[in-house]
Amino acid sequence: MRTALFPEGFVWGVSTSAFQIEGATDRDGRGPSIWDAFAGGEYGDPACDHYARHPEDVRLMQDLGIAAYRFSVSWPRVLPEGHGRVNGPGLDFYDRLVDELLEAGIAPYATLYHWDLPQALQDGGGWTSRDTARHFADYARVVYDRIGDRVDTWFTFNEPWVAAFLGHGSGVHAPGLRSAADAFVSAHHMLLAHGLGLEALRAQGAARAGVVLNLSPVLTPAQLGDMSAGIPDEDAAAVARIDALHNRQFLEPLLRGRYPAELLPLIERTAGLGHIRDGDLDVIGRPVDLLGVNYYTPIAVQAQPSAPADPAFPGSEGVLFCSVPTAVTAMGWPIMPSGLSLLLRRLSEEYPETELMITENGADFEDVVTGDGIHDVDRISFVEEHLRALRTSIDEGARVRGYLLWSLLDCVEWADGYRRKFGIVHVDFTTQRRLLKDSALWYRDVVKRNGLGAERPKRPTLETVAARARVSRATVSRVVNGEARVSPDVRATVLRAVQELGYVPNAAARSLVTRRTDSVALVLSVPRHGGEALTSAVVQYVTSVLEGAGKQITLMLADTPESHRRIIRHVEARQVDGVVLVPPDGPDTLTERLARTGVPVVLLGKPAIASLVPHVDVDNAGGAREAARHLLDRGRHRIGVICGPLDLVAVQDRLAGHLATLHENGLRPVVAPAGLDSGSGAAAARELLSGGQGLDALFATSDELAIGAMRAAREEGLRVPEDLAVVGFGDIHAASCTTPALTTVRVPVADQALALARLLLSRLDGRHTSSVLLPTRLVVRATT
Ligand code: FCB
Repeated sequence: MRTALFPEGFVWGVSTSAFQIEGATDRDGRGPSIWDAFAGGEYGDPACDHYARHPEDVRLMQDLGIAAYRFSVSWPRVLPEGHGRVNGPGLDFYDRLVDELLEAGIAPYATLYHWDLPQALQDGGGWTSRDTARHFADYARVVYDRIGDRVDTWFTFNEPWVAAFLGHGSGVHAPGLRSAADAFVSAHHMLLAHGLGLEALRAQGAARAGVVLNLSPVLTPAQLGDMSAGIPDEDAAAVARIDALHNRQFLEPLLRGRYPAELLPLIERTAGLGHIRDGDLDVIGRPVDLLGVNYYTPIAVQAQPSAPADPAFPGSEGVLFCSVPTAVTAMGWPIMPSGLSLLLRRLSEEYPETELMITENGADFEDVVTGDGIHDVDRISFVEEHLRALRTSIDEGARVRGYLLWSLLDCVEWADGYRRKFGIVHVDFTTQRRLLKDSALWYRDVVKRNGLGAERPKRPTLETVAARARVSRATVSRVVNGEARVSPDVRATVLRAVQELGYVPNAAARSLVTRRTDSVALVLSVPRHGGEALTSAVVQYVTSVLEGAGKQITLMLADTPESHRRIIRHVEARQVDGVVLVPPDGPDTLTERLARTGVPVVLLGKPAIASLVPHVDVDNAGGAREAARHLLDRGRHRIGVICGPLDLVAVQDRLAGHLATLHENGLRPVVAPAGLDSGSGAAAARELLSGGQGLDALFATSDELAIGAMRAAREEGLRVPEDLAVVGFGDIHAASCTTPALTTVRVPVADQALALARLLLSRLDGRHTSSVLLPTRLVVRATT
């Protein structure tokens, strides 16, 4: 690793936005915003409770050595109706914040519009109305009046493409409209608002004002893998169109005072041109002092004649948005630092006079909070690689003045709510406790040194895990890769170390997820005798829950080695987003092979070999304990146990639970092995009853075995329950139909299947999930 220092005076900072962190949506006279309405109370308050905790957050930034903080002002906090009446307490908040920042030696950078339009303006047409642009300029004036004496860097808008096209085109953002015409009109009015706002700020004396765009290089899938690849002729038009819609629709009016020529016919066809009035482009094109660049990921497209338009890109018929097998963040965004260099090279060539600043860059990765911190190595690598790319661009002449990391805090990620983790500071949303992640500590060093050091970021490696678990690296690797040749004790120790250290085996590389297919595989191993009820419940409930969540189910039978290979290939090819696996009985390799594909997997039943794959099981040991206690309460002390095949984990647990309770009570039970069916239960019972111990009770690890045992007892002339009490396990249908009816331990079959479906849904949502253990219950009937 080389050191990579940045030019003197380079600004290191962090970014946030009002709706994503402030909370307090109805405090001190704030009016509602379109995002409050869109969130429907699900997120947005308390968010990070920054409204109350800003002093703590400023202190955090000071500790990290942050030089600039880009925040956004909430329009409805300042003007609850969007225009007219000014809300004094709302302005007071920003006034205090700015003072605190300055006291801490942090330069405040204010963004005026980061998507939270006052709902009152939306009610009057929102961005589809030209009046909103005028109101924006007035709002800019009001804010500047109050804090302009102390804020010298201003951004009018954050990412107008997102606000216009996701808010009005695809409708996945507030205000949730789906109209291509509204999207184009809104985009223009936002550009106009920027121009008018810029004038207002300048007129009052703003030192430095600009705008923030989300820019992405548009590439073909081949270029994503190899940047030197050219664009094939047949894809050139697709690339140019998406570039015009996403990048040049904003760059050209703002920096050149014109719309891209090829875009105008499309706008005219979709929305007419009436909203673009004479003189608008002069206002929009006034020179900015600074262009803020938000870069996260490139866009990959190719020509595909039959592809319908993506509503976020009106006019994109015939363009296929491609998912390419490359490492992605938890958002599913391809990681491509060289995309940043490409973008900066282009901006420097096409708009050489414009000063640039990276106003957002960062990554969502699932974090593991461990006893000794949050080792978010993937986030560190992401930022580090992007900083190296940035350093190269600066060497090439790009005029980039600073880098603001997104984001200081884990916060509300818009429609995704709280589940995304972009922060370098972890926020516990129940306690609001802040915890620095390793990335924050690492960034502090970057800031201090004004660049990257030669050392690699500290990450828990295979070595660290091996040292903690006191085993060899090879052993750790075997456990992590799910190989069977490790003793259960060692496996447990290694897994504990993995968890404690927050070691993520190559998370980015494992995340070769390309796209959401909205399909889920339900992989069924052929049930042994007695497993059919559970299997059919799983099919029934898993299918209905997952279909209800909009997933398609692909049923796959895992009965032969060839079928295993086929399933693995299917999952590796990302034909499905997740897998529900009903594994074969006993040790198997299918589970770990599936887990290694990186696609979320959930398991029915505790696996024979301990695993990181989460499972749903019932409390077999607890149920068997309760059965033993029940027999003891009934005064039975000479208990025989009929035990099914011990390669079944459930049978092992039932036997262990039962024996533990009997031993605790000073009893020495006799155990007879059996198979699965009632015939083998009868044979085991005969063996036990002829042993001369005068048994007064039998416990069987399944109802089938118990039913066979009752038959054998009758044949021996014993009365149930007078001479012999019998308890089974499972509560299958037949258990209540025997004479007398069988006392047994009920296994919640439907609940188990439902829990399995829900577990997969949470994994697909990227939530951190652990295994589920459902309680069992003794059902007392006539045999005891
Ligand atoms: C950008 C937004 C910012 C945040 C990041 C992840 O598009 O400006 O608010 O959501 O993405």
